[in-house]
Amino acid sequence: MSAPAMDFRPLAPTDLAALLPLDAATNSHPWHADNWADSLRSHLCLGLFDGPYLVGFSVASRVLDEAELLAIAVDPARHGQGLGKLLLAETCNRLAADGAAMLFLEVRAGNRRAQALYDSAGGSETGVRRNYYPGPAGTREDARLYAFTLTGIAV
Ligand SMILES: CC(C)(COP(=O)(O)OP(=O)(O)OC[C@H]1O[C@@H](n2cnc3c(N)ncnc32)[C@H](O)[C@@H]1OP(=O)(O)O)[C@@H](O)C(=O)NCCC(=O)NCCS
Repeated sequence: MSAPAMDFRPLAPTDLAALLPLDAATNSHPWHADNWADSLRSHLCLGLFDGPYLVGFSVASRVLDEAELLAIAVDPARHGQGLGKLLLAETCNRLAADGAAMLFLEVRAGNRRAQALYDSAGGSETGVRRNYYPGPAGTREDARLYAFTLTGIAV
């Protein structure tokens, strides 16, 4: 599967008008505008653009040599085109260039598509956090934990 040429750039407050609807379209628990504003100030927030259009984003925090992927999403109309993999690879490259050696994340146990992305991008499943996420009607859902080694990747 080959992805079309895309541009990456760090997200800025001027991108909020595009970010909020994309988050709402891809996340069962979208962030409030205030959370986004905080994240844009304090985390690596990367946008994937097709011309002027935001088609994906990732959010990662880094402390010393460890990073955590807080969010990653691609426009549903563009799923299955390799963009998620492209975005994850670029996020990993930028984190590695910034000094991160490992990237950690958690994903809903029912989110098979994201797990397929992490598996195919070289992540290792490291464990399960039981009943971590809120589900519908008071239910809970397990988190699966993944780790990526960032040392030695092309930067
Ligand atoms: C998870 C997400 C970012 C993947 O983006 P994407 O652009 O569709 O992913 P890609 O096209 O790069 O595919 C990545 C891998 O997913 C798998 N995949 C692709 N299309 C798939 C499909 N229709 N069904 C199942 N798996 C699929 C493949 O394993 C693929 O790897 P491969 O190309 O090496 O075979 C996207 O589905 C999304 O935005 N989901 C909603 C937000 C979300 O769940 N984020 C993760 C939170 S932890």
